[in-house]
Amino acid sequence: MSSRVSIDFEVDGVRRSEEIAPNTVLLDLLRDRHALTGVKASCERGVCGACTILVDGTPAASCGVFAFSVDGAAVETIDGQGREGGLGPVQRAFAECGGFQCGYCTPGMVMLTTALLRAHPEPDDEQIRSWISSNVCRCTGYQMIVDSVRRAAELNREEQP
Ligand code: FES
Ligand code: FES
Repeated sequence: MSSRVSIDFEVDGVRRSEEIAPNTVLLDLLRDRHALTGVKASCERGVCGACTILVDGTPAASCGVFAFSVDGAAVETIDGQGREGGLGPVQRAFAECGGFQCGYCTPGMVMLTTALLRAHPEPDDEQIRSWISSNVCRCTGYQMIVDSVRRAAELNREEQP
């Protein structure tokens, strides 16, 4: 019996086909094989959310996802959030509003915010706090993160054609 499985998926818009061990964790695949080190490893137990990515648009803790399960899916990471020549609107909002200090939780928060604003382009504070409640920040207190999400909604609106 083969000890490898083939997967074919997309990461930040780039198609990837590869052979992996069946027990490969998506977080490790992204960081170690694809050098997407913007995806942070912290608790590695599905608790803190630092490793949050989007799978077909839905936030997921990549430390708790077997890589074979994203076969055929589109994965988005913080490394795909930039725009030509700079930061994307959600990243800019976090920078403007001081939504981070050490920055370790920020990639996960940015990915959550990206998914939130697709579902609710003009979220209220209750929706924002509910969405970010899955992720832990040990530095800022959460008000500046809430402010960052609100600002990201504004910047997204300004970017609309
Ligand atoms: S590192 Fe994945 S949830 Fe904490
Ligand atoms: S900014 Fe340090 S953990 Fe959130």
